[in-house]
Amino acid sequence: MPKIQVTNLAGEVSNLDATSGNTLMEELRDNGYDDIEAVCGGVCSCASCHVYIEGDWDKKLDPRGEDEHQLVTSTDYFKENSRLSCQITMTDEMEGMVVKIATQDY
Ligand code: FES
Repeated sequence: MPKIQVTNLAGEVSNLDATSGNTLMEELRDNGYDDIEAVCGGVCSCASCHVYIEGDWDKKLDPRGEDEHQLVTSTDYFKENSRLSCQITMTDEMEGMVVKIATQDY
């Protein structure tokens, strides 16, 4: 049950008790973070689950897969620490991870 910090598009910061084994997108979507639309349901084809992984957490995660990289780098709000949250599976080691929801292209 890693606790992570989430900043929404309004700049509001909150803590989320995530469940290991779920994706970050599922945790955000199912816990009322409405900025995450997740139109494709998590199959890496929409980019409407775009987040930034802040601090050095970005480097602790597995790197983007090819499909994720292609999709997220084509978004208008891409940054080096951009990720598609449906491609990140929560683990206990993510305790304290800091996530900022990105402006979505849609
Ligand atoms: S939910 Fe569509 S790419 Fe993540």
